Amino acid sequence: MPPMHDPSASYDVLPADAPKPERYALLRDRVRGLLAGEGDATANLANAAAEVFALVPDLNWAGFYLMKGGELVVGPFQGRPACVRIAVGRGVCGTAVAERATQLVDDVQAFPGHIACDPRSRAELVVPIAQGDAVVAVLDLDSERPRRFDADDRAGLEGLAADLAAAIDWGQVTRP
Ligand code: SME
Repeated sequence: MPPMHDPSASYDVLPADAPKPERYALLRDRVRGLLAGEGDATANLANAAAEVFALVPDLNWAGFYLMKGGELVVGPFQGRPACVRIAVGRGVCGTAVAERATQLVDDVQAFPGHIACDPRSRAELVVPIAQGDAVVAVLDLDSERPRRFDADDRAGLEGLAADLAAAIDWGQVTRP
């Protein structure tokens, strides 16, 4: 049996100014613990989104868009209700899929075609999640603070996305 995750474990284990790599190492550990021994993809993505939102400061939205029938459909997330469907190539999320590359946007108001689900959002980080050659989902974070995300955030969230690519049974929640 894998060790049981303790959902009551405190979030105040790091000082507010802890180095970002330390914060992302903790995030990845906690998500690993949440997923251990659980095979339900929706449950696992919901808890992963909640953990990101709880541990990464200054976010107003964090969660997943899932590839279904050739377009992105909103999946488990934390934050205000969001746009449901995004075409590949559209907005920051659709661009991440089309280019199969992380999009780090300092100010979404300067990103051509940005989809404003919430006008408060100013900075965005979108990491594609792939299975072999196919992108199956994106991990999307929004912040009200312009230039909120940097190379450390990108590295930490790409690491988390790699963990999730391997640990989630994507066939339960996506289709080509
Ligand atoms: N801003 C995104 C849409 C998704 S929301 O941020 C949750 C985009 O341009 O793709």
